[in-house]
Amino acid sequence: MKAFVYNGPGKSALEDRPKPVIAAPTDAIVKIRKTTICGTDLHILKGDVPSCKPGRILGHEGVGIIDSVGAAVTGFKAGDHVLISCVSACGTCAFCRKQMYSHCTTGGWILGNTIDGTQAEFVRTPYADMSLYHIPKDADEEALVMLSDILPTGLECGVLNGQVQPGNSVAIVGAGPVGLAALLTAQFYSPGRIIMIDLDDNRLAIAKQFGATDTINSANGKALQAVMTLTDKCGVDTAIEAVGLPATFELCEKLVAAGGHIANIGVHGHKVDLHLESLWDRNITITTRLVDTATIPMLFKTVTASKVDPSVLITHHFTLDQILDAYAAFGNAAKTKALKVIISP
Ligand SMILES: NC(=O)c1ccc[n+]([C@@H]2O[C@H](COP(=O)([O-])OP(=O)(O)OC[C@H]3O[C@@H](n4cnc5c(N)ncnc54)[C@H](O)[C@@H]3O)[C@@H](O)[C@H]2O)c1
Ligand SMILES: [Zn+2]
Ligand SMILES: [Zn+2]
Repeated sequence: MKAFVYNGPGKSALEDRPKPVIAAPTDAIVKIRKTTICGTDLHILKGDVPSCKPGRILGHEGVGIIDSVGAAVTGFKAGDHVLISCVSACGTCAFCRKQMYSHCTTGGWILGNTIDGTQAEFVRTPYADMSLYHIPKDADEEALVMLSDILPTGLECGVLNGQVQPGNSVAIVGAGPVGLAALLTAQFYSPGRIIMIDLDDNRLAIAKQFGATDTINSANGKALQAVMTLTDKCGVDTAIEAVGLPATFELCEKLVAAGGHIANIGVHGHKVDLHLESLWDRNITITTRLVDTATIPMLFKTVTASKVDPSVLITHHFTLDQILDAYAAFGNAAKTKALKVIISP
């Protein structure tokens, strides 16, 4: 089968790989119908994620049709139409018991990281019963690809950890798909102000369409002053970091209000300074989180009830043969205006 393989920092290729086989009775093999590229895949290609070794098939998002299941899988059978969570969960370890699936002792974020992923014709999904979801009959499968990772990520790591509340002010640094997913899901909680900060005017214009009350292009280095002007010099109740760079986390440290929350989402490959000399008396909370995808069932309901439409995040379509073009489009979003790219075999 065809598969997109990470071969070390800066090196990747579409290669021919054997079709995966059931390795444990709890596995399923899924024939991929749609997958996509995450900002995290870009971090892997840069060498920011050391757990992902050369030779790995990338990709941790997707929908497909079950090809076969192991003997212990009871909730799924060949032919079922499924959504694949980016996190695999055994369901029985101490972390899974508290819905912290991302730290499952034998699972977690392993797909496209420590085991082969979804940017291929087939994928082996461990713990199928806990890690796959049935797709309802008339659902838009393309939109549901956004539920594998980015919608739960924006919601869990950004909005829920950041304790977004009615009337409060929120700043989201990074208007990529994940920052925009935080923007969409923050609106479940009716914040009064959502300020979107990025370097890319196109993404900021999209953020405005998706419900941002204010947008700031931080290229001029004046984002902090702009946020202070918008918030009566208080700063924001919730600052969500959705980039993964020292500068953007440090900006969140500056623009958070007293008593506020900094909710980190970004994958950081470099050390970041924690400025306790200015934060020690500010009563703030800093959270980090690897997405658990525990909110996928709830997000399914919000999508089905048209409370949120994740398909607005999809801008480009490619075939698996064109995956290098898909990476080029996603990696050069300022030029290509790409948000999420859908890749089909
Ligand atoms: N914690 C988790 O579980 C989890 C899950 C998924 C993704 N992530 C991470 O979330 C982050 C965002 O993912 P994405 O897919 O949206 O990535 P992306 O690369 O598409 O988006 C990043 C955005 O940040 C903007 N940006 C870059 N430098 C900036 C700066 N100095 N100031 C302001 N904006 C800047 C870019 O213009 C872009 O719009 C990544 O770090 C990704 O690895 C984390
Ligand atoms: Zn991801
Ligand atoms: Zn577990």
